[in-house]
Amino acid sequence: MARYLITSAIPYINGIKHLGNLVGSQLPADLIARYMRGRGHEVLFLCATDEHGTPAELAAAKAGKPVEEFCAEMHAVQSEIAKGFRLSFDHFGRSSSTQNRNLTQHFAGKLAENGYITEVSEKQVFSVADNRFLPDRYIEGTCPNCGYDKARGDQCENCTKQLDPTDLIEPRSAISGSTVLEVRETKHLYLRQSALKGELSDWIDSKTDWPILTTSIAKKWLNDGDGLQDRGITRDLHWGVPVKKGTEDWPGMEGKVFYVWFDAPIEYIACAAEWADANGKTDADWERWWRTDKGADDVTYLQFMGKDNVPFHTLSFPATIMGSGEPWKLVDYIKSFNYLNYDGGQFSTSQGRGIFMDQALSILPSDYWRWWLLSHAPESSDAEFTWENFQGSVNKDLADVLGNLVSRVTKFCRAKFGEVVPEGGPTGEALVAELTTRLRAYEGHMQAMEVRKAATELRAIWVAGNEYLQSAAPWTVIKTDEDAAKAMVRLALNLIRLYAVISRPFIPDAAQTMMDALHCDDWTWPEDVATALDTLKPGHAFTVPEVLFTKIADEQREEWQTSFAGIRA
Ligand code: 2FM
Ligand code: ZN
Repeated sequence: MARYLITSAIPYINGIKHLGNLVGSQLPADLIARYMRGRGHEVLFLCATDEHGTPAELAAAKAGKPVEEFCAEMHAVQSEIAKGFRLSFDHFGRSSSTQNRNLTQHFAGKLAENGYITEVSEKQVFSVADNRFLPDRYIEGTCPNCGYDKARGDQCENCTKQLDPTDLIEPRSAISGSTVLEVRETKHLYLRQSALKGELSDWIDSKTDWPILTTSIAKKWLNDGDGLQDRGITRDLHWGVPVKKGTEDWPGMEGKVFYVWFDAPIEYIACAAEWADANGKTDADWERWWRTDKGADDVTYLQFMGKDNVPFHTLSFPATIMGSGEPWKLVDYIKSFNYLNYDGGQFSTSQGRGIFMDQALSILPSDYWRWWLLSHAPESSDAEFTWENFQGSVNKDLADVLGNLVSRVTKFCRAKFGEVVPEGGPTGEALVAELTTRLRAYEGHMQAMEVRKAATELRAIWVAGNEYLQSAAPWTVIKTDEDAAKAMVRLALNLIRLYAVISRPFIPDAAQTMMDALHCDDWTWPEDVATALDTLKPGHAFTVPEVLFTKIADEQREEWQTSFAGIRA
């Protein structure tokens, strides 16, 4: 039995995620976590909400709520939706936890002690009315280039010219609209990533098995232009982890907080501590996942994320860990994803374009979505969601292939032999041989986290069962050889159990329905197919299940297509 620590990129708190976000991190992470558990490995699967930073503050202000209250509410909302999608986190934490505050301050202290932090004085725009420094993109004004009156301090959206806030004509705060702005001097901490460049570079070069998408992005940031830049890790904001050096005050840093991208990945560690605290466990219980001096050297750590998150996970967070000089676990494998597009355009949170997680669950159960998303995961390139394709996958793969097999076998058995497993067997040698080959291939793809390939193989395994049934034709054989027909049906009922076990990572609810129909609770992985197909003994009772998957009719698909064509308020 091996040990797997699995984390998904932690979603921002300020809104419900769309399906593109889901398939790029949380869902494939869940797939692999479920698979590893299914194989009997010990898994700790963690995710959390990413709660700090200006977007959270602004979203709270827009909702007219104190930011703490807003975050607590949104955490509960995201947690419920995650349950709806059957994301099997061992803990769904919060980056605003005290565990994360303490750890973030701890890391900053260690980095400072080891000489990896510098203090830099900068000039920044301060809004007197808002009583805060404004990040560049929260300063608006007229573009000196094209005259557009809503240009932002970093760029004009209209003519795309890159700007400095001081270039803007009649600058104002994007938060309050106030024009009373001053340039003030402020001090910030920088993480000296450049000093760790050699170590980071060697570490990434050693990861020869990582997906090209991951290593190419990491190498680009390591080597492009001036190479790895030092990075500001503090902000003049109210909401965040207060800047401290361990438990001590940091002179000159009063009233400042750490940058959200500094504390967010540290939440991966803090979340394990939250998990331990929430479950009456000890520090040793979570440290054995994270500290190589406390048992984590036999842990394999897998991270899942969209490609935009890769630089932070291949460079900044490892720099934090390496620079601490402490024996924290470094990631072993980073699985990153391209983007999922929506019906000819992009999914967009800010524009409300696409299908959001809550909307998806309001029209269909999670398995329908899980299956389509995972079997079309944007691995080697961007992928696109279209309603036609979704309808096709659901109707063919889930309803016609898997659902139909389950229904035919159980109904035929009930009609001819009653709701018990008939006598007979072994039979179906060719099927056993094919399933053995395909199952080993499926396991290989899952182990390699090749999500699409795994889905393709799983579908082929379902198809093989249907083809077996079609050619064995127990409904014909029964007329001349009842014993042979019984053996075939017994094999097919056992096949349903085998399918439940191996399909569970993709479609957990349907797998449970199949298992419940068989009055069975034996989720043992089919190491040996012939043995697995002998699990349900003659005389074992079952119940014909409800329809496993309902087909999507054309009218229904058109209706959804229309209702999701617009933008969400
Ligand atoms: O892109 C995002 O949604 C970020 N909130 C991901 C953070 S992942 C990590 F570093 F914690
Ligand atoms: Zn312009």
